[in-house]
Amino acid sequence: MIRKLFFNARIFTPTSQGNVELYPKGYILVENGRIVSVGEMDNRQRLLLDGLHEIDLCGATVIPGFVDSHTHSCFGATRESEFNMRLGGKEYLDILKAGGGILSSVRSVESLSEQELFTISSIRVNQMLVNGTTTLEIKSGYGLSTELELKMLRVIDRIGREMPLDIVPTFMGAHAVPPQFKGNPDEYVNIVINDMLKAVKHQRIAKFFDVFCEEGVFSIEQSRRMLNAAAASGFKLKIHADEVHSMGGASLAAEVGAHSAEHLLAASDEGISAMARAGTIAVLLPATALSLRKPFARARKMIDAGVKVALATDCNPGSCYCQSMPFVFMLGVLGMNMSGDEALTACTLNAARAIGKERDVGSLEAGKKADFVVLDCDSPAGLAYRLGSPVISSVYKMGEAVA
Ligand code: NIG
Ligand code: FE
Repeated sequence: MIRKLFFNARIFTPTSQGNVELYPKGYILVENGRIVSVGEMDNRQRLLLDGLHEIDLCGATVIPGFVDSHTHSCFGATRESEFNMRLGGKEYLDILKAGGGILSSVRSVESLSEQELFTISSIRVNQMLVNGTTTLEIKSGYGLSTELELKMLRVIDRIGREMPLDIVPTFMGAHAVPPQFKGNPDEYVNIVINDMLKAVKHQRIAKFFDVFCEEGVFSIEQSRRMLNAAAASGFKLKIHADEVHSMGGASLAAEVGAHSAEHLLAASDEGISAMARAGTIAVLLPATALSLRKPFARARKMIDAGVKVALATDCNPGSCYCQSMPFVFMLGVLGMNMSGDEALTACTLNAARAIGKERDVGSLEAGKKADFVVLDCDSPAGLAYRLGSPVISSVYKMGEAVA
């Protein structure tokens, strides 16, 4: 058995939305990668625990590893040329309508071998790990055919098996309407329901189903049909809801019992109330709002309504190529008026809840994985105070230094 004692750390760990416990002279006792106990160090404990592999953290600040609960980080080519088009005034959805956007990433995934897609994606994921992410949701959705969606999910699964992060795979075959179904999107919806869901279920990699419910992509009615079919096949549900247009995506999430609704830049008051009643988690992506030059989601309104709020990067080649949870944390605090403690909960515990991993990760508690980040600042709010400067000293996954 491998036993480690991390001691002499300022440990901050969330207990519920916006509530964070602090152990000013804290320790974490770890056995085989799992936390046995966390608390305040006193002399007696030092004595009892003598003989362990001891790691002195020299008074540094420690927080749980970040849980990035919404990403499209498995992709091939970047789309910087589209970013330049957007800077020139083109709208994100118009680029997609013209056959670019998500469809251009589909062509890239198609052109790469599985090994190439793995290599490119794992380099990107490693950069996220260096930024403190120890658990990562990754969506498919650059395949849009059974064969290519299964290929993406195999690559996503391999990232989880070969890299020191927990990966949560999401099937997002309903990310866009493939060009051959442009005049008849319902036919593609039927293929998702009748063919793809079965194949993906049989593959046994994806845990969640997600759909891009948006004007010009999938309507509320089409999304509802796919979501209900996915639930019947045993998938947990997520929705890209009210990202650009206020369509009633948040209310749909509540209606179909979705685990989470994501983006929500244009979510209505009714949608937020419906989410609060249904217990739907809000996954907010402020770096996407920034990159699209849109107003941030109304995090305060959601928190005050009793909605559990998570923050994530949305890392993707189109709307938001962000790999940094510290950057997202900073936007939560300075862009959306969240407190440092709320942002910490949103980047860890609530994010773990958003992907069904709260029993394993998201806080530093007995029984969970010893995933944590050592920071070069006095408190979690230092991540916002330092405005994107490098404040991460090291990253631990299951008690092992990985960055
Ligand atoms: O979350 N909105 C849909 N999906 C992604 C963007 C994907 C892309 O443009 O490649 C998002 O913003
Ligand atoms: Fe997304």
